[in-house]
Amino acid sequence: MKVLVIGSGGREHAICWHLSERGSGHEIYCAPGNVGIERHATLVPIAVDEIQALADFATDLQIDLTIVGPELPLSLGLVDEFRNRGLPVYGPSRSAAELEASKIFAKEFMQRHDVPTADFEIAHDAQEAKRAVEAIGLPLVMKADGLAAGKGVLIVRNQADLDEAMDLFYEQKRFGASGARVLVEPFIVGEEVSFMGFCDGQRFLPLATSKDYKRIGEGDVGANTGGMGAHSPSGIVDAEQSAEVLEKVMRATVAGMAAEGNPFIGILYAGLMMSEDGPKVLEFNVRLGDPEAQALLLRLDQDLGELLLAGARGDFGTNRLDFRQEAACCLVLAAEGYPESAVKGAAIQGLDAAAQQAGVEIFHAGTKAGETEGSFVVSGGRVLNVCATGRNLRTALKKAYDAAKEIRWPGLQIRSDIGKRVVEAESMLESGIFKLPKT
Ligand code: GLY
Repeated sequence: MKVLVIGSGGREHAICWHLSERGSGHEIYCAPGNVGIERHATLVPIAVDEIQALADFATDLQIDLTIVGPELPLSLGLVDEFRNRGLPVYGPSRSAAELEASKIFAKEFMQRHDVPTADFEIAHDAQEAKRAVEAIGLPLVMKADGLAAGKGVLIVRNQADLDEAMDLFYEQKRFGASGARVLVEPFIVGEEVSFMGFCDGQRFLPLATSKDYKRIGEGDVGANTGGMGAHSPSGIVDAEQSAEVLEKVMRATVAGMAAEGNPFIGILYAGLMMSEDGPKVLEFNVRLGDPEAQALLLRLDQDLGELLLAGARGDFGTNRLDFRQEAACCLVLAAEGYPESAVKGAAIQGLDAAAQQAGVEIFHAGTKAGETEGSFVVSGGRVLNVCATGRNLRTALKKAYDAAKEIRWPGLQIRSDIGKRVVEAESMLESGIFKLPKT
């Protein structure tokens, strides 16, 4: 079938790779794609927010299925436009995508449907924010209501953090319209984990567990990033906890959305804190996590095209996904200066040597072609994803780190501790690593 993938990062490279390597002979297009994706798909020079142009392209080429990578086109109503034109598309409608586009929508939804999450206050201005902070007490979290490229969540531990957050929200107005309403909620202590699955409006098919590492610095310190690494399984939640998340969060959300006449078709992603009181939803996303997707897709053992086409039609016709009984990881190689201000233009060395290593896949995220044939230069913050599989996480990580060592450019940033704690915690490893949630 003809499949159009929308997006241009490592996640979309992994989706195109999967469709090409594990699919049944699909003809793949990617808009706008990137230079690494070119190996698997025909690139289409249309930006992700050009909804009409994308729909025109899909109509002209009689695309059988469109898969949407990032959240922006979903929040702009891409799926509604495609459906109005009778074009099969896998992703949530604009109103269902509010689960990610408005954190307040998501909180109020969770409140209505008893989905576990922290209490919260909503502030419309600085005065209300101050009152909310007094009511909740430190430490707490302040979140811009709207999309802010992962940067609108501020952890406030002390007065200095609070002064900075108030300045960002109400003096600098750093988050623009997205920060017009601010969510204030208590800081929850626990281990952060992502939980994702495919929905067809009525059913939720869980993906294997995964964990991402958002901070730039080793030991989870420093600025928040889009994600500096990931692995699957997470090694943190066991089968019992997975079952609890599945029922109380994921299935409750899909059922709640259907009951409200706003059925959710697409990828539902819950960012969770596994707290002493059980799982608590920190946020929802309505697309695959990046870089979690890169690790998860290495393990997914079925035809993504066929599966998502069935989902787009409202019935997967199956109750489970098949995963290889192995571990996978993804290391993000980032540019100098990322996340504040990425330095672009450096020539990338050693990519071929890294890519040739057994069990390793490299996805491009922020690269473009260099001047000589087959060469690449840095063109974004997160540049390359070095991914690997292995019989367990330790093996997968070793392969990925060995391959990553081959790659060089001035100022390259990589965390050396992705998965380290999980691998060291033998008990966690033994207690849950390959126990996938039952569907
Ligand atoms: N890895 C987190 C995200 O994709 O938002």
